[in-house]
Amino acid sequence: MIVIRISVSLAANNVRDFLYGGTMKILIKGGKLVDFQNNCFIIRDILIDGKCIKKIDRNIRVQDDFKVIDAKDFYISPGFIDAHVHLREPGFEHKETIYSGTRACAKGGFTHVFSMPNTKPSPDSIENLNDLFSRINESAAIKVTPVASVTKGISGEKVVDLKNLSKENIIGFSDDGNPVNNIDYVYKTLLNSIDTRKPLITHSEDKSCFEVGAVNRGKVSEYYNVDGIPNEAEFNMIQRDVDILEQVGGHLHICHVSSKESIDIIRNAKLRGLNITCEVTPHHLSLTEDIVIEKGAMAKVNPPLKTKDDVERIIKGIQEGTVDMIATDHAPHEIESKNLPIDKASYGFSGAETAFSVAYTYLVKTRKINLIELFRLLSYNPSKVFNIEKEGIIKEGYFANLTLINLRKEYEVKSSEFVSKGKNTPYEGMKLNGKVIMTIYNGEIVFEEEK
Ligand code: DOR
Ligand code: ZN
Repeated sequence: MIVIRISVSLAANNVRDFLYGGTMKILIKGGKLVDFQNNCFIIRDILIDGKCIKKIDRNIRVQDDFKVIDAKDFYISPGFIDAHVHLREPGFEHKETIYSGTRACAKGGFTHVFSMPNTKPSPDSIENLNDLFSRINESAAIKVTPVASVTKGISGEKVVDLKNLSKENIIGFSDDGNPVNNIDYVYKTLLNSIDTRKPLITHSEDKSCFEVGAVNRGKVSEYYNVDGIPNEAEFNMIQRDVDILEQVGGHLHICHVSSKESIDIIRNAKLRGLNITCEVTPHHLSLTEDIVIEKGAMAKVNPPLKTKDDVERIIKGIQEGTVDMIATDHAPHEIESKNLPIDKASYGFSGAETAFSVAYTYLVKTRKINLIELFRLLSYNPSKVFNIEKEGIIKEGYFANLTLINLRKEYEVKSSEFVSKGKNTPYEGMKLNGKVIMTIYNGEIVFEEEK
C-alpha cells in the first residue's frame, strides 16, 4: 500500500508540494549509505535542508522543525537514474502522462529519468522541445531530461537540426522505438556528439531481417507461427554503428541490449577504446522467451525476450563491466492493446515500479553481483556516462536525491497497485525481493511506502 496519493485534481503547479506542503528539512538517521569510492556501506546520518545534502556525519542533532526518518533498517542509494523511459506525453496520454509516469518512476526509486522521443509530436524542433519542457515543469514529480529525436517525427526521413538542439537541455538523440536506418544520419549524429557530448542513442534493429517479428525467432516463433526476430536484427545494426563510430568518433549509446552476440561486439569495441556505452533492461536479464509461451502478448517486448544463453551472456556482461547501466525501457500501454493476438499486440512493459526488485531478485539474491554493484548500475554509472552533475553519489553539496531500500521485504507483483497507467507487466503474480520504501528528490519526499 502506498501512502502518497496525489490527487489528480491538484493544481498543476502544486504537485511537487504534495506531501508536506513544500520543501522541508529532513534528517535521515542511521541508514546504510553506499560509498562507491571505498566499495562499502557506511552507517551515517544525512541532513537535508533545501535541494542539497547539507551534512553527512555520525549522530547529527537537529531542532524539532526537522522531519526525522529512522533509517537503521534501510540501505540508501543515490537516487536512481533511468536512461530509458516512455512517458508518452504529448500524444499518447491514454497510455501514460508525465504526471503519472514520473510518479511511477518515483515509486521505483528513480529521481531522474530520460524521456524517449516516440511521442506526437516528437521533440524534433526547438518549439516542440520547449512545449515538452513546459509540460515537465508543470507536472513532473522528479527530474526529466528529454532525449531529442534524430529524425523529424522519428520518421527516419529528415535529420533534425542537431547543432541547435544540442544547445538545449537534452541528453542526446534517438529515434527509439525505431532504428536509424540512414547511415548518413548516424554519421552526422556521431560527429555532432564529439563537441556537444550529446550521444547517439540507438534502438538497434535491422528490420530487413524479418517480416512480422513480434517474438524471438526459434521455438516461440514456431509456436505462434510467425517468422520471429532473429538475433542478427540487433547485432548487425550494432556492428554497423560500431563501424561508423570507429571512423567518426563520438559517443554511441546502445539501448536495451538483449543478445549474446551484441554483448561480444560491444565488449570488443570497448577494448579497442571506442566511446561506446550500453544499457540492459530488468526483463532481459531476468526472463527468457519461455515466458512468452506462458503469458502470450503480455510478455511481448522489443527487442524480444531471448534464450537462456542470451540471458547468461547479459549477466556476464554486467559482471565484466561491458554493461554500463540498467535502464527500464518503461513502456506503458493500455491493456486493450496488449489483449490482442501476438502479432498485433503492442510491444513493451510497464517497468518502472518493478525494476529494482527484479534486478535485486535476479542479480543480487542469486549472488551474481553485490548490492553496491547494483546501486552503481542504477545511479553512479548513468550519471558518469551522461555527464550529470551533482547526482549519482551521496555527498555533501550534491542534490538530495536518495532512494531508501528495505531488503527484507518480499512481495507479490500486482499491476492493479501500479501508479503507472500502464498495467502491462510480465511479472504479474510473481514474488520479488527487496523494495523501494522511500524516494527523496531535491530534498522532498516524492514517494513513501506505508510501514
Ligand atoms: O518494447 C518496446 N516498447 N520497445 C521499444 O523499443 C519501444 C517501446 C514502446 O515505445 O512501447
Ligand atoms: Zn527501443
